[in-house]
Amino acid sequence: MSVVTPKIGALAIVASVTLLLAGATKSSSSASARKSAQARPTFYKDVLPLLQDHCQVCHREGKIAPMPFVTYQQTRPWADAIKQAVQSRQMPPWFADPRYGKFLNDPSLTPQQIALISAWADSGALAGSPKEAPPPKQWAKGWNIPQPDKVVQMPQPVKLPAAGDVEYTYEIVPSGFTDDKWVQMSEIRPSSREHVHHAVVYIRPPNSKWLHNAPVGVPFTPSSFADAEERAEAHATTSDMLLVYAPGSEPDRWPDGMAKFVPAGSDLVFQMHYTTNGHAAIDQTSIGMVFAKQAPKQCVLTLQLTNHTFMIPPRADDYRVEVSGALPNDATLLSFFPHMHLRGKRFEYNVLHDDGAIETLLRVNYDFHWQLSYRLAQPRLLKAETRLQAVAWYDNSADNMHNPDPNKFVTWGGQTYEEMMVGFFDVAVPASVDKERFFVRNATGR
Ligand code: HEC
Repeated sequence: MSVVTPKIGALAIVASVTLLLAGATKSSSSASARKSAQARPTFYKDVLPLLQDHCQVCHREGKIAPMPFVTYQQTRPWADAIKQAVQSRQMPPWFADPRYGKFLNDPSLTPQQIALISAWADSGALAGSPKEAPPPKQWAKGWNIPQPDKVVQMPQPVKLPAAGDVEYTYEIVPSGFTDDKWVQMSEIRPSSREHVHHAVVYIRPPNSKWLHNAPVGVPFTPSSFADAEERAEAHATTSDMLLVYAPGSEPDRWPDGMAKFVPAGSDLVFQMHYTTNGHAAIDQTSIGMVFAKQAPKQCVLTLQLTNHTFMIPPRADDYRVEVSGALPNDATLLSFFPHMHLRGKRFEYNVLHDDGAIETLLRVNYDFHWQLSYRLAQPRLLKAETRLQAVAWYDNSADNMHNPDPNKFVTWGGQTYEEMMVGFFDVAVPASVDKERFFVRNATGR
């Protein structure tokens, strides 16, 4: 995706003044035209509130969108592009098929809001009176969560080359927590966003054997391990994830009474997947955490439905891969995060009912550049033995504009020209249950 920066110079301003004048001349010609001029939407009264609620999370200084939409001067040159982007529903980015499920973090505009923005762009993108503006939206400095109680940064920056593949890079950071912590909100902030394809922060409890021979506080890659088993183990852990980041993804904000558990003395393990873009850089990612004010009743666990054993034939344009499993214990389903690579096309989460009925909870029309989480508007209690299914479809044809090579068989792998099939999902369970215990089947479970 490329973005053309408009020339916000004298030319654009002259053009808008001309438009305003033309409009004014027309509307003064008759009373009815004047009335319609009064009804024209303005930036401050009509458009700014929508930008605040639906766009500024990305469109403000320092966030992922290349142009801020905070002031009139910043927004005015983009009026037509904004109209197009909202009419085509390219913006705000959201990929859930509206036929399935309702999601808390759905930023979509209503048809009325789209019509309002379009009318504003079509009628000269007027400023209106700043007196009618809503109060500016307050953001904690640089964060989309409230000011974090604790920020943990990778102690050493990672050097990124200008070109080529970069092996998954890890950095283990002692949390320094001397007592147990409940993390209610967290946000990952890369320092070189353009290079981060994904980042995962894992919670490594003090007794964990995972990566036990790896160095602490410095970047390393699994290929540096002499032992083959240790190399493989780097990519396979039962450690719970604190948070996943991918471009466009949101911070975690768990409802009151639910949080992620970080035992005292845990390490945070950063797993970084970098891509190169022609410019060498350094990255030093951090995670900000807001702690729960009191110990919650429920613990949030991130689980996954994964299929490693597929082979997508060359040029297949709708290749289906599925996986299913039964929940070992009761759990409240909160959210989903599907993960595929460049050939990803569609991803679905289903409940398989005993009578054969398939109930779709979420269907995502996948876009590799936008890996989002989807939070259920209504968390849903799933009884033990509920069968969950994830289904992924891949487009390995030449029609897929992201496809690096339609003539290849494609199998599981960490690089973006290989594929993945991971349906992450978050559940809440009683606070006393950790991930390992959750998978011990409860004898009373049906
Ligand atoms: C989740 C982050 C995010 C949100 C929310 C978001 N945008 Fe964007 N927007 C981006 C990014 C990143 C780009 C640049 C890359 C691209 O074009 O996809 C962009 C690009 C654009 C562009 C330029 C498209 C072009 O022609 O190149 C427009 C216009 C735009 N956004 C409008 C909006 C509007 C209006 C809203 C709210 C209704 C909105 N965006 C919400 C992230 C976001």
